[in-house]
Amino acid sequence: MAQYETHEHDVIVIGAGGAGLRAAIEAAAGSVSVGLITKSLLGKAHTVMAEGGVAAALANVDERDNWRVHFADTMRGGQYLNNWRMAELHAKEAPDRVKELEAWGALFDRTSDGRILQRQFGGHRYPRLAHVGDRTGLEMIRTLQDHGIHQSIEVYMEHTVIRLLKDGGRIAGALAYERERGRFKLFRARAVVLATGGIGRAYKITSNSWEYTGDGHALAYDAGALLIDMEFVQFHPTGMVWPPSVRGILVTEGVRGEGGVLRNKHGKRFMFDDIPENYRAQTAASEEEGWRYTQGDRDARRPPELLTRDHVARCIMREVREGRGSPHGGVFLDIAWIRERLPNAAEHIKRKLPSMYHQFKQLGDIDITKEPMEVGPTTHYMMGGIRVDGDTQMSDVPGLFAAGECGAGLHGANRLGGNSLSDLLVFGKRAGEHAASYAKQARPAQADAGEIEQAIHDALAPFERGGAEGPYQVQQQLEETMQDLVGIVRREHEMVEALARIEDYKRRARQCSVCGHREYNNGWHTALDLSSLLTVAEAITRSALERKESRGAQFRDEYPAKDDRYGGFNVGVRKSAAGSMHIERLPLPPLRDDLKQIIEEMK
Ligand code: FUM
Repeated sequence: MAQYETHEHDVIVIGAGGAGLRAAIEAAAGSVSVGLITKSLLGKAHTVMAEGGVAAALANVDERDNWRVHFADTMRGGQYLNNWRMAELHAKEAPDRVKELEAWGALFDRTSDGRILQRQFGGHRYPRLAHVGDRTGLEMIRTLQDHGIHQSIEVYMEHTVIRLLKDGGRIAGALAYERERGRFKLFRARAVVLATGGIGRAYKITSNSWEYTGDGHALAYDAGALLIDMEFVQFHPTGMVWPPSVRGILVTEGVRGEGGVLRNKHGKRFMFDDIPENYRAQTAASEEEGWRYTQGDRDARRPPELLTRDHVARCIMREVREGRGSPHGGVFLDIAWIRERLPNAAEHIKRKLPSMYHQFKQLGDIDITKEPMEVGPTTHYMMGGIRVDGDTQMSDVPGLFAAGECGAGLHGANRLGGNSLSDLLVFGKRAGEHAASYAKQARPAQADAGEIEQAIHDALAPFERGGAEGPYQVQQQLEETMQDLVGIVRREHEMVEALARIEDYKRRARQCSVCGHREYNNGWHTALDLSSLLTVAEAITRSALERKESRGAQFRDEYPAKDDRYGGFNVGVRKSAAGSMHIERLPLPPLRDDLKQIIEEMK
């Protein structure tokens, strides 16, 4: 008989980044007992990598902004594959969620008359990102954490969940292990909220840290939930490219929001060369006009560096591929040039972008107030994830909810910068609220003892195998395969090759072994994470093959244009009864008339 401790809560929340914390706070407000499980330490979350701001139509800087414009921007950015109900709720509720955070102690930058300051970001029509310098995500986590610890939430740090447990069709809890001691724990619960973040570690170059191995995606998939939009992986245009040890670390879009420009090795602002038709009317026609926009001229149009992320990332790759890149395989991002325009430019840059200043000074010995940065795309965010109901955030497994990056729908084919922070506030709250009400009316659920026994046996199998190969090599090869064959520009034959390799990695992962004991055993943790990484890698590749067009974050070399035949459905991924991955097309529900009208008006 396997040994494990049992804990019981009405609701457990898995993941303690912004979405998880917000969900836990709201569930606790519903007078139910809440357990918050985090793989890492509390406060260490990818939320902090959304540096430049949280998007909310507060209209503090431009009174023309309102939820309708935010809704239309989000839908256009997502190429209309978004769950429109989520886009509507998000745009309507984001301002209240930001104000609530302020009431809980978040210290946002201010306008001269004392309101929350907002900055420009790609794809947002008006300055919309409430921010704290370039540390917005960090301030949000700090605030949610400070608030959350007073809400009687039981926190379990450094615990990895390895299986969701069900009672018949509905959720009954989760099985986890303590990373420190290797002991197993059963969490019995009537409702579970997944808020595990993204999948960045499936790629070699990423802004994500070690935790982001697609755990929530894989747990939900294994529990029978439907995943959607898995082909849409966001490559943030600007990550560090040099030195190699820090390649992929984020360089906030806030740099471009404050006037930073992209140049190739000839000093040319190449973004002016390729402006998509649907953004032409709003994009500056000259450098002068772009500068005026960043200085707040309401009649000027935005610089092409603030086009959507999918487009900017592809333009950078084009420059690199065609031999016009920077020495280390990126392009130049220059904020120092504003010295020509602002007398106090160096102070201004340090005040607005303090983390970027220190990041480049300490990691690359570059003074960004004097010289340009070298940047290139980095895997940053997953638009795809668990399909949820827009209002409640419940998945198609009763009692299983999802919020934040591991949930899907709001962003469609491409997310606008800053919409992740507002997403996690709006839908974290909704998930917590609905999970609590679900738990209150649900009868107690009973996890199956045989299933628990089997899950523990499977988790310990790498110690028993005695095979020659450990998990690291497989993980490293998987990252390289995804980077090279299922990256920014995708080709049919390369993805077919990737699938064949993934099959081989799956076989090797089933045989790989680890040595030592269970305490602090990083090899063992990697062996368990590998299974989630392989699930998401396969889902991304199969979904990308299914969508034979280019849309948002997916660019297919053989199908470089958008194709209307692919505009009417999401690609869904489900585990079949036989255990294989099944791909389906899910028609989009018809857009409500009033929302359709908003989109038409904004066009
Ligand atoms: O560039 C950034 O600051 C990232 C923001 C985001 O991903 O929303």
